[in-house]
Amino acid sequence: MNIAPLITEDEIRTRMEALAGEITRALPSEMLIVALLRGSFIFAADLIRALHRAGASPQVDFMTLGSYGLRTESSGSVTVYRELTEAVQGRHVLLIDDILESGRTLDFARREILTRGAADVSIAVLLEKPGKRAIEVEADFVGFVIPDKFVVGYGLDDANRYRELPFIGVVE
Ligand code: IMP
Ligand code: MG
Repeated sequence: MNIAPLITEDEIRTRMEALAGEITRALPSEMLIVALLRGSFIFAADLIRALHRAGASPQVDFMTLGSYGLRTESSGSVTVYRELTEAVQGRHVLLIDDILESGRTLDFARREILTRGAADVSIAVLLEKPGKRAIEVEADFVGFVIPDKFVVGYGLDDANRYRELPFIGVVE
């Protein structure tokens, strides 16, 4: 399979610092980050260090959600594979995910966290595919808006492959 580069390592690195600046200007320094696994793990690791450089002091937790299985089309229902460790009661939560497509995953996660009493929930995504939303949910912070193509790398997978690529590319 051929993977055509769409966003380079350099472009990602530059955007990360700007994104961290946007987030620290908008949210309290003591935010609780909830990174959605597995797709966001590399984005989250880079963004969290950029947030530190921008002056924030976040706490970090993870939740593993899935809706895709082995297919490249969203199946429509979201499953919790691994729960949060922290209590979110009263916290300013920043949800981090790899990509906003149908919106099902992030809508599900946001509802879960609000149900548990978070003060507020903001959303940061590495990528957004416009015009694909099945559910109304918007990201507060977006790394890159991309065309409606299936992408891999920098944490994003095709059947759990290509997550290790340091750039984002289109599977051809
Ligand atoms: P949504 O729930 O439809 O918004 O989809 C979000 C999830 O689908 C993401 O967290 C990804 O795991 C997966 N996904 C959507 N588009 C892509 C893609 O182009 N490449 C890899 N994974 C994707
Ligand atoms: Mg995912």
